[in-house]
Amino acid sequence: MGQSPLRLGIAGLGTVGVGVIRMLRKNAQLIEARTGRQVTISAVSARSKGKDRGVPLDSYAWEDDPVALATRDDVDVFVELMGGSDGPAKAATEAAIKAGKDVVTANKAMLAVNGHALAGLAETAGQVIRYEAAVAGGIPVVKALTEGLAGNEITRVLGVMNGTCNYILTRMETAGLPYDTVFKEADDLGYLEADPNLDVGGIDAGHKLAILASVAFGTQVDFDSVTLEGIGSVTIDDITAAKDMGYRIKLLGVAQMTGRGLEQRMTPCLVPYNSPLGQLEGGTNMVILEGEHSGQIVLRGAGAGEGPTASAVLSDILDLARGLRLATFGQPANTLVAAKSAASDTPAPHYIRIHLQDKPGALAKTAAILGEAGVSINRMRQYGHDEPTAQVLIVTHKTSGSTIESVREQLSKSSVTDGTPVILRIEEI
Ligand code: NAP
Ligand code: HSE
Repeated sequence: MGQSPLRLGIAGLGTVGVGVIRMLRKNAQLIEARTGRQVTISAVSARSKGKDRGVPLDSYAWEDDPVALATRDDVDVFVELMGGSDGPAKAATEAAIKAGKDVVTANKAMLAVNGHALAGLAETAGQVIRYEAAVAGGIPVVKALTEGLAGNEITRVLGVMNGTCNYILTRMETAGLPYDTVFKEADDLGYLEADPNLDVGGIDAGHKLAILASVAFGTQVDFDSVTLEGIGSVTIDDITAAKDMGYRIKLLGVAQMTGRGLEQRMTPCLVPYNSPLGQLEGGTNMVILEGEHSGQIVLRGAGAGEGPTASAVLSDILDLARGLRLATFGQPANTLVAAKSAASDTPAPHYIRIHLQDKPGALAKTAAILGEAGVSINRMRQYGHDEPTAQVLIVTHKTSGSTIESVREQLSKSSVTDGTPVILRIEEI
């Protein structure tokens, strides 16, 4: 006799929830063949019962309250697809765990903010939390870290983890349009989250990076320590200038363990134009994992949307159906260390764009400011003279973030510069 069905309760019937139901219905036979058991839906929940969601829901029980859904006797796995770091998502997840249910979620905000406490709660109760869809949508990056690369010390995790920002930056470049115009376009296309700052402010991508850092480095997830800077201040002038110097600007997440502690940053950076990250167009995500023995692993795919996100949710559900049970962040929660947070000070080359007074000695004074700070110039270009200033681009040799900040201050105060210089880190890949 086959195993009993795995029974789901799904809270949240939006883009992802409906995608999961469609995929479960379409691939029912394939899922049974691969897991040896049926995966069924017992009950669903959302805010509005009457809404037409384009999938038949009549055969599932309805719960208005996600906590009631999460604790039903006929639910083995609570599938949380509502969103939000706290509120109903957290309350229902906690209730599910306490009632002896496993949890599958796509909710990066909840895990980035409350992940460590939830992991502890789940492990004490003997339950499992899975969240492949929470990071980079359809890309199986959590699995890659917790399973495929499990024997490696991970040295660095980096990537483009917000498709909306990548769409905006690449569209600015290809269409030559300013940020505000492309932001409006992205909004009209429905790409932006209800609170757009989650996307363009780097918060959504920062949540994903904090989760990956925990899995990669065995640390307690610590979103508050992620250095965050969004893409709102990236100009078409910088995109064009960076391209001219052989780079592209990306909202890039980087996490690495250093002798000073854990560095986590989600900031606009330059990457080499011809690198895999430099070639990443539109709404696609890319995550690069560097292991001491595996070397560099590059994962690329859709970071959002109904199909890709549902695919990741299904992979977690199939693992539970197969009996695969892993600790939330890849090792027991009580062994995750509270890492010291380090400022993003690992030396790197930097890009500087300044407008110089077009007069004798201006360039010499600029070079002196850099030289006195111990910053060496690698490449430099001066452009057509928009009187009374000339635009100058400088690529430095490796220098620390704190040194470059003092250079920024000096250049801003200098009598030969016009306005504040733009300085961006160049990430070596
Ligand atoms: P969505 O389209 O806005 O859907 C949210 C669903 O949750 C809706 O069905 C809503 O009900 C329901 N809901 C909200 N508050 C509720 C409450 N208090 N009680 C019961 N139901 C409630 O969101 P989504 O895009 O599917 O995203 C869901 C989760 O997946 C989020 O954590 C998101 O960050 C994550 N995620 C999404 C994507 C993506 O591409 N969309 C990718 C990766 C991860 P009503 O429909 O009745 O309003
Ligand atoms: N808003 C996200 C993005 C999708 O643009 O990548 C959800 O993670």
